[in-house]
Amino acid sequence: MGSRKHMRIKVLKDGPYEVTGNVPLREMKIGANKAGESTHWLDGEAFETGETYHLCRCGKSKNKPFCDGSHMHGFDGTETADHVAYDEAAIVYRGDGMELMDDESLCAVARFCDAAGSTWRLINDAENEELAIRQACDCPSGRLTVVKDGKKIEPELPREIAVVEDEPEGKHGPLWVRGGIEIEAEDGTVYEARNRVTLCRCGSSGNKPFCDAMHMDGKEE
Ligand code: FES
Repeated sequence: MGSRKHMRIKVLKDGPYEVTGNVPLREMKIGANKAGESTHWLDGEAFETGETYHLCRCGKSKNKPFCDGSHMHGFDGTETADHVAYDEAAIVYRGDGMELMDDESLCAVARFCDAAGSTWRLINDAENEELAIRQACDCPSGRLTVVKDGKKIEPELPREIAVVEDEPEGKHGPLWVRGGIEIEAEDGTVYEARNRVTLCRCGSSGNKPFCDAMHMDGKEE
C-alpha cells in the first residue's frame, strides 16, 4: 500500500486522470428502493491496478474506466472549476437542531437526497436527524453536508476511487474520490482536499474536472 501522502490524482491536459500511489479502485453501484429512490450503495468489483494508472476523462474509451488513448482523437478537457472552498460556496439551510450545507454546483445527481421527501425537508424535524445525516453522507459529490452542534458530519471513507455505475438510470456515473485523496489540476494547483468529491468521466461537464451530472443527458457509450 502506498503511503497516504503519495496518493494523488493528476489531471492531464486534454487527457486522462493519472492516479499514483497505489490508490485502490473499485466499482460502486447506486441501489434503489421499489419506488426507484436511491437508498443505498452496492459494492461492485475491485479492479486490479498498479502503483500508477490512467482513468478515462473524455468518455470515449473502449476500456472504461481506464484510458485507451481515444482522447487523442480530440478532447477539450479544459478545467473550468474554480478553487472556491466548499465552506464559502455552500448555502446553509437551518433546520431543527441541525443545518444543511449545500453547494449545488457539485451535484452529480445520485439522488440520495430525493428519498423520503428530500433531505431539505427532513432537516426541519429533529426526529428525522438520522435519515437526514445518512442521505447527506451518501451524497458522493459532497454537495450536501449536515452540521450538528457546529460540527460537519462526514462518513468514514476509505482512501480509494469508486467508479460509479448508475444502474437505475442506465448510466455510467462519475469517479467518486473518497477519503481526501489529493487532486492536482493540470496547471499544478491543488483543489481543496475533501472527503467526498466526484470527478467527470463522460467528458461533458461544464465544471471540469468535477462532475456536474452532464452524463445524465448523454448517450451511453
Ligand atoms: S481520457 Fe484517454 S480515452 Fe478517455
